[in-house]
This record gives sequence, structure tokens and C-alpha cells, in this order.
Amino acid sequence: MNGSILEIKDLKISFGTGEKKASAVRGIDLDVMKGEIHSLVGESGSGKTVTSTCVMGLLPEPPAIIESGTIKYKDLELLSLTAEERRKTRGKEIAMVFQEPSKYLNPAMKVGEQITEMLRLHLGMNHSEALKRAIEILDLVGLGGNTRVLSSYPHELSGGMKQRVMIGIAICCNPSLLIADEPTTALDVTLQLQILKLIMKLRRKLGMGILFISHDLAVVHDISDRVSVIYAGRIVESGSRADIFESPRHPYTRLLLASIPDAAKRGRKLAAISGRVPDAEHFPPGCAFHPRCPLAEDGCSQAQPEMEKIREGHSAACFCLSKEWTE
Ligand SMILES: Nc1ncnc2c1ncn2[C@@H]1O[C@H](COP(=O)(O)OP(=O)(O)O)[C@@H](O)[C@H]1O
Ligand SMILES: [Mg+2]
Repeated sequence: MNGSILEIKDLKISFGTGEKKASAVRGIDLDVMKGEIHSLVGESGSGKTVTSTCVMGLLPEPPAIIESGTIKYKDLELLSLTAEERRKTRGKEIAMVFQEPSKYLNPAMKVGEQITEMLRLHLGMNHSEALKRAIEILDLVGLGGNTRVLSSYPHELSGGMKQRVMIGIAICCNPSLLIADEPTTALDVTLQLQILKLIMKLRRKLGMGILFISHDLAVVHDISDRVSVIYAGRIVESGSRADIFESPRHPYTRLLLASIPDAAKRGRKLAAISGRVPDAEHFPPGCAFHPRCPLAEDGCSQAQPEMEKIREGHSAACFCLSKEWTE
């Protein structure tokens, strides 16, 4: 596709072998255009983190086995790069932020040193250039004017500040692609909003493409240009924000939407999707969603539906797309 910076095609990733084989990612196609925010949404266990760590080159093999697929970043085929070449792209070209900053930040290093080290390593800056840039970065992520942050250790900062520092480290080398894996999930609602606003601001200022991962469709509403919904290691629906929020077609997307708290529905019991995503070792045959699907018919347990175009840019994988939906 024109203008895409990331293009994942037919990615399949499994763990283990034989009886114990878990096919966690089962043929994913996903792309991120330059400067866009594409959200990948689905309940816990659906394969979001396995997919994103694979793009980052951080998937441990073994236990993971990449069975097929290509991941193109700009003109590079990431899966055919050497470990050393992947390391060089990490941080500089493709950066990632995680749910838990504590796991990512070095507890024994001051925040300022962690940022300047990235800048020296990837951009070859000298100490004073790096320090100047680190101060700009802190300003950019909303920690400007607080010189104490530079000389603080991570444990001396609040949760929201740590999240901002991690985002600062991620973007300090001006990556073209940022992968944000549930960056707001551990935060309270107020902080969550602040971090979402920060991510939107950074996209605007730095023009990077963002793959934004969340288990919560409500979280991605304001920030997404496009949304892909993932279930049991497959993309089941993909479209623009308006397609997904205003004209959802896959039963899973519709149910995810129906379970979002909505001011207009206040007082009404929220719909919840019964059951949960099965383990990757036990995905049901056919359409993996069929045991939880209100529209499922006999054929749904027999064959796996492929993505079908609904209109330009909007597609879904379901045998019952033409069936009437009543909530
Ligand atoms: N190291 C591993 N060994 C075996 N199975 C794994 C491993 N990592 C992830 N999985 C399985 O892959 C599936 C997808 O996991 P994950 O990508 O973490 O989901 P999500 O991020 O969407 O919550 C799950 O069924 C999970 O149990
Ligand atoms: Mg995850």
C-alpha cells in the first residue's frame, strides 16, 4: 500500500509443538501508514502482544516459532534482518512503549542518563548535545520545567511521570513507528486521558505512525484513524474509526461496542460478552468466535471465514455479515 511504513502479511506465530502447540497468531495482515494511528483491539489473550513484540524483534525464539509471514518496515524486510540489524532499528526507527514502565526503565539509572544513553548510542550525540536534547524531550512529554526529573531514579517518580519518561525515551531518537502496547491500562482514568492526549500531540508534532494496542475499544475511540479488531490470533474486522464505531459488522466488534459504558445508557446494565478468549492451545475450529457468537450457525464451526470487503477500507471476516443484528 502507498505510504505505509509497516506492512505485516500473513504472520503466523506458535508456541510449543505437537499436542501442546499453541497457534497464538494465525495469519495476521496489518499495516500502519505514515503518521496515522492504527489501533489493534481485542480482549486479553488474543495475540496483540505476541504480534507487537514480533514486530519489535523482541519475541524470544524459542519458545516462539514464526511459522510464516513478512513484516515490512519502509523498505526493510524485518524478519530477514540479523539480530544486530534488528537491534539497530530498535529505538531509532521503531520504538515501543509498554503497560508497565517499571519493567522497562532501568531502576539503577537516573532518568537523564537513560535518555542521554539512547541519544549517544543511536544518534552519536556527545554528552552536552544529549543533555540539551534530553531536556527538550522531557518538555515534549509534559515534564518540562521539572529539572528534578533528570536526576531522579524511576522509583522516585509517580506512575504517570514514569509513563511519560518511558514515552520520552521511546521517542527521543525520532522513530518513524511507535508501538504502544496498552500504555494506559495500568493508569487511572484521569492519567489515561493525559497519556492519550500526549500520544496524539506527539503524533502531530513528530509525524510518526503509531500502532496503538488496547483491550478496550473505548480507549481508542478518540485517537484512532483506523481500527483493527483481533480475536484468537486473527483480525476479524478492520476499518476507519467511523466504520468500526458507527457501522460495525462483525458480531465480536458489535459486542465489544455494546459493552462500552456510554453516558446515554446510564443506569442500563451494560452488555457483556459471555465467556472469554480461549487459550491459544484450544482455539475452536472454524470461526474461533462461534461458541460466543449470537449469530453462529452450523457452518461457523466448520470453516474459517476470510476477510471480506464491505466497502473501500472496511472489511470483516464472518459468514453471517448479511444476517440481521438485534441488540
Ligand atoms: N511464551 C509463551 N508460551 C506459550 N504461549 C504463549 C506465550 N506467550 C503468549 N502465549 C499465548 O499466546 C496467546 C496470545 O497472547 P498475547 O499476545 O499476550 O495476548 P494479548 O496481548 O492480546 O493479551 C495467549 O493464548 C497466550 O497464552
Ligand atoms: Mg498484551
